Amino acid sequence: MDLTVGVLLGTFILSVLALFVFIASMAKGLFGSGGAAAVQIFDKDEMGAVEDPAATKKQRGNLQEAMDPGHAQVKGNSREVAARLRADQSSSLVVGVCLTLSVFWLVLASFAGLIASIKLHMPDWWVGQAWLTFGRIRPIHLNLVAYGWCSMAGIGVAMWLIPRLLKTELVGAKYALAGGVLWTVGITAGTVAIAMGYSDGLEWLEYPWMADIPMIVGGALVGFPLWLTLLRRKVEHLYVSVWYIAAGLLWFPILFLVANWPGLHFGVQQATMNWWFGHNVLGLWFTPLGLAAAYYFIPKVLGKPIHSYNLSLLGFWSLAFFYSQVGGHHLIGGPVPSWLITISIVQSMMMMVPVFAVAINQHLTVLGNFRALLYSPTLRFIVLGAMMYTAASVQGSLQALRAVNTVTHFTHYTVAHAHLGLYGFFSMVMFGSIYFIMPRVMKWEWPYPWMISAHFWLVLGGFSVYFTGLSFGGWYQGLAMLDKDIPFMDSVKLTIPYLEARSVGGALMTLGHLVFALHFFMMGWKFGPRRLGAALLATPEPEGKSATKTLPARGVSA
Ligand code: HEM
Ligand code: HEM
Repeated sequence: MDLTVGVLLGTFILSVLALFVFIASMAKGLFGSGGAAAVQIFDKDEMGAVEDPAATKKQRGNLQEAMDPGHAQVKGNSREVAARLRADQSSSLVVGVCLTLSVFWLVLASFAGLIASIKLHMPDWWVGQAWLTFGRIRPIHLNLVAYGWCSMAGIGVAMWLIPRLLKTELVGAKYALAGGVLWTVGITAGTVAIAMGYSDGLEWLEYPWMADIPMIVGGALVGFPLWLTLLRRKVEHLYVSVWYIAAGLLWFPILFLVANWPGLHFGVQQATMNWWFGHNVLGLWFTPLGLAAAYYFIPKVLGKPIHSYNLSLLGFWSLAFFYSQVGGHHLIGGPVPSWLITISIVQSMMMMVPVFAVAINQHLTVLGNFRALLYSPTLRFIVLGAMMYTAASVQGSLQALRAVNTVTHFTHYTVAHAHLGLYGFFSMVMFGSIYFIMPRVMKWEWPYPWMISAHFWLVLGGFSVYFTGLSFGGWYQGLAMLDKDIPFMDSVKLTIPYLEARSVGGALMTLGHLVFALHFFMMGWKFGPRRLGAALLATPEPEGKSATKTLPARGVSA
C-alpha cells in the first residue's frame, strides 16, 4: 500500500515538474517558433481564403466577405493541390466506409437511448421482451454510441486528416479497411450478446471478451496504417492535430486491452480499473480525436492560423501529464482508499491547465469572427462543440470536488454532464467534420442545405432541453436524497417531469439524427442537384483523359 501511494504521488510530482520543464523549454524556443507549424495547413496565398465544402455558393461568398473581403482569388498551386488530391484519394474509400458505419450506429444508438429514456418514466412500457428491458437497452445504447458512433466517426475523421496533414498518401489503406470490418463484427457480436443477457457487468466494458477480440485486432489494423503514414511523412513540423491523433491511437489500444483482459482484476481493484478505463477512454481517446478535428477545421474554414501554436502544444502535453489518474473521481464515497480518491480530485483540478490552454486558443482564434458561424455549416457545429468542451470540462472539475459530488453522484446530473461531453462536444465536432469531409470524399455537394440547418436546430434544441432538464432534475434529486426527512421514493418521484423533458429532448435529437442520416445516404447515392464547385479540389477529368486540372477558385487549401 505504502509503495503504491508513493508511486502515485511520485507520478503526480513528476507530472508537475514535467509541466514546468516543458514551459521553460518552450520559452527558450526549443520547440521552434511555432509559427511555421501553425501555417502549414495553408498553401501559398491561401491565408485569408475561407473554405467550407458544406456551404452553398452564396454562403461561401458571405463567409469570405465576413472574414477578409479584399482577399483575391487563390491561384491554385497545382503541385501542392495535386499532392493533396492524391492524399485525399488514398484515404477516401476507407474514410467513406468508416463514416457510413458510424452514421448507421448513430441512428440505432439514438433509438436505444430513446427507449431507455422513456422506460425511466413509463416503466411498464414494452416489458414483454427481455432485450428491451432497461438493464439491457441502456448498455446497448452506451456501447453503440461509444464504440459504434463516436469511435467510428473519430477514426474516419482521423484517417482523412492524417494523409492531408502529413502531405503523404495513406499507407496500407487495405489494413484499415479490414480493421473497420473486424471492429464492426465485434460491435455487432457485443450488442447481440448484451441483448441476449450476456454482459461483463462493468460500465463501458459490458461486451463479453469474445467480442473484444475482433475489436482489439480491428483497432490495431486501423492504427497500423496511420503510424506507417506518420513514418513516411513529407512534412518537417507535426501540426498539433497529428500529436493528438497519434497519441490517441497509442493510448486507446493499451486501455482497451488492459481493461478487458479476463481474470486480471477483482473486487475493489476491479472497480478502480473500471473507472481508470471509464475516464481515460473519454480523455485519452475521444477528447484527443475531437480536439484534433477542431484544431484543423476552425482555422481551415476561417482561413487564418490558430491563435498560438505553442499554447496548443501546452494543451496537448498537459493533457498527457494529468489525465491518466483522474478516474478515481467516479468512486468518491465508494469502498476505495481515500488517498486514491484525493489524488484523482487533485488531478481533476490540474486538468484546468489543458482545458484553459485549449479554450483560450480556440476561442481567441474565433474571437471577432463570430459572424462566420452564420454562413459556415461546418464551423457552426465545431465552434459550438469546442465551447461545450470547455463547459463540460470546467463542470467536470467542479463535479469532482467532494462537496459537489456528494450531491450529484448517483443522480441524473451526471448523465447531463456525460451528454454535454460526449454529445455537446464530441458529437457536434464530428457532425461538423463530416459535413466538411464528405463532399471531398464523394466529389458531390450536400444535396439539400436546408437539411443541414434542420439537423443543427433539431439537435441543438433537443440537446438544450435534455441538458437543462436533467441538470436541474438531477441536482434536486441529489438534495432530496441527502435530506433524511424525505422518503427515498419522493426523491425518485420528483425527477419524473425532468425525465419526461429528457425524452422530449432526446426525441428531437433522434429526429435530427434521422435527417442527418437521410441526407448522408442521399449524398452516398449522389442524389439531388449536380453542384460540384465546393466539393472538388480540381475540375472534373475531361472525357478520355486522366490528368486533373486545378480549380483557380478559392477553397483549395489542405
Ligand atoms: C477536466 C475534465 C473533466 C473532468 C474533471 C470530469 C469529471 C467528471 C466527474 C467528476 C464525473 C462524475 C463521476 C460521478 O459522480 O459518477 C464525470 C462523468 C462523466 N464525464 Fe466527465 N469530466 C471532464 C470532462 C469530460 C469530457 C471532455 C467528457 C466527454 C468527452 C466527459 C464525459 C463524461 C461522461 C460520459 C461521464 C459519465 C461516466 C459514467 O458514469 O458512465 N467528461 N466526469
Ligand atoms: C450521439 C448521441 C449520444 C451520445 C454520445 C450519448 C452518450 C451517452 C452516455 C455516455 C451515457 C452514459 C451516461 C452515464 O452513465 O452517466 C448515456 C446514457 C443514456 N443516454 Fe445517451 N447519448 C446519446 C444520445 C442519446 C439520446 C438521443 C437519448 C434519448 C433520450 C439518450 C438517452 C440516454 C439514456 C436514457 C441514458 C441512460 C441514463 C441513465 O442510466 O440514467 N442518449 N448516453
